[in-house]
This record gives sequence, C-alpha cells and structure tokens, in this order.
Amino acid sequence: MFNKILIPVDGSQGAFEALKYAIEMHKANQAELIVLSVYREHAMWTSSVSWVNQERTASTEDAMKEFAKEVAEKSKQYALDEGVAKDKVRSFYIGGGPAREIVKSSEKHGVDLIILGSRGLSDSSKHLLGSVSHKVTSLAQCPVLVV
Ligand SMILES: Nc1ncnc2c1ncn2[C@@H]1O[C@H](COP(=O)(O)OP(=O)(O)OP(=O)(O)O)[C@@H](O)[C@H]1O
Ligand SMILES: [Mg+2]
Repeated sequence: MFNKILIPVDGSQGAFEALKYAIEMHKANQAELIVLSVYREHAMWTSSVSWVNQERTASTEDAMKEFAKEVAEKSKQYALDEGVAKDKVRSFYIGGGPAREIVKSSEKHGVDLIILGSRGLSDSSKHLLGSVSHKVTSLAQCPVLVV
C-alpha cells in the first residue's frame, strides 16, 4: 500500500480528478497527501530584449505565484472538507519547471506514489498526454498514477 502520495495540481479539471482519486486512496489506509503547485519563474520566460516590458513580466510572475498558492491551498482545503485529517495533508507552491520540480519534490519528500491528471490547463488535443504527465511518468523514481 502507498503511504505518502504527491498530487501535483495546476487548477485543471484533470488535476482535480487526480486529487479526488488520492483522497479515495487515503481513505483506505490514511496515506499522507502532499499537494504541490508549480508556477513558472520570471527568469524562465522573460525576454532579454529591452523593448519587452520587464515590469509587466515581473507582475505576471506575481500573478502566477498567487494563482499557484491559491490552487495549492484550495486543493488542501478540499481534502480537509472531504474528511482528511489536518496532519495528513500538506500543500506547497514553488517556482520552476513543473515536471522537474514535481520529480524533485517526490524524491525530497520520499513519496511512494505520484497521482496526476492526464491533461492539464492547456488541454490541446494534439497529444493524448500533457507534457507534464509525459515527463513525470518518464523521469519519476516512484510509481505514477495518471488519472
Ligand atoms: N504547473 C503545475 N504544477 C503542478 N502540477 C501540474 C502543473 N502542470 C501540470 N500539472 C499536473 O500534470 C497534469 C497534466 O498536465 P499537463 O500540463 O501535462 O497537460 P496540459 O496542460 O493539457 O498540456 P501541456 O501543458 O503539455 O500543454 C495536471 O492534471 C496536473 O496534475
Ligand atoms: Mg499544462
């Protein structure tokens, strides 16, 4: 059985389905739930050319950080509302590349399962799997459940 589960959330319906799945698994054996939301940092997408408004990119990062914080906190609150005990659910939001940060966090927290959505916010029909779910299933050192 899995005792520590990481649920990466991006505010999408796919991630919400993954969260609901994780809560159901928690009910079976009181597994600890760790919710993680990753936002893209300024340095990862800002332009190096001076005619692009740097101030605006900085405020965009603030907005993305705020969004990630809200997604993480609301997901944790949803778990609490569904009956998960306070000491069994934690939430984090961090800046970086989503897939890499998800895999890094899974190792740092020693989780034994990652549950994520097959698609996220982009939901373009070009690929069956989103790039984050594709990368995480390829790079993770623990089992990954794609919902
Ligand atoms: N920034 C993120 N932080 C945390 N989890 C994420 C993040 N982005 C995606 N995920 C997780 O990965 C799952 C799949 O999302 P993914 O981003 O791969 O698909 P997509 O948005 O449809 O496609 P893409 O982003 O490749 O265009 C989501 O349901 C969520 O569980
Ligand atoms: Mg995405």
